[in-house]
Amino acid sequence: MASLTLRNVVKKYGQRQVIHGIDLDIADGEFVVLVGPSGCGKSTLLRMVSGLEDITGGEVLVNGTLANKMQPRQRILPWCSRISRSIRI
Ligand SMILES: Nc1ncnc2c1ncn2[C@@H]1O[C@H](COP(=O)(O)OP(=O)(O)O)[C@@H](O)[C@H]1O
Ligand SMILES: [Mg+2]
Repeated sequence: MASLTLRNVVKKYGQRQVIHGIDLDIADGEFVVLVGPSGCGKSTLLRMVSGLEDITGGEVLVNGTLANKMQPRQRILPWCSRISRSIRI
């Protein structure tokens, strides 16, 4: 597993901002659920954390290391090696 930190994470699609500065700390082994209405940005946030979507602003840290530019495989998220190339969130 890994710890995860989000600092003021922002996502824009063109001029449209869909993630408005998320701060979150998840400890190694901690179980967290994202809940919100359809379209609020849950999938977009998970795609940014996993490296499937570019991060417009802010920082994603995996085990304290800046991961914004890391490929999915480098993020040592536990499911990456198992799901291989067909990651879909
Ligand atoms: N590839 C994309 N291009 C443009 N807008 C997108 C794209 N993906 C998601 N969005 C928009 O971003 C917002 C958040 O979407 P999404 O993360 O899928 O929400 P959720 O998973 O919470 O239902 C929505 O308004 C959606 O229309
Ligand atoms: Mg979704």
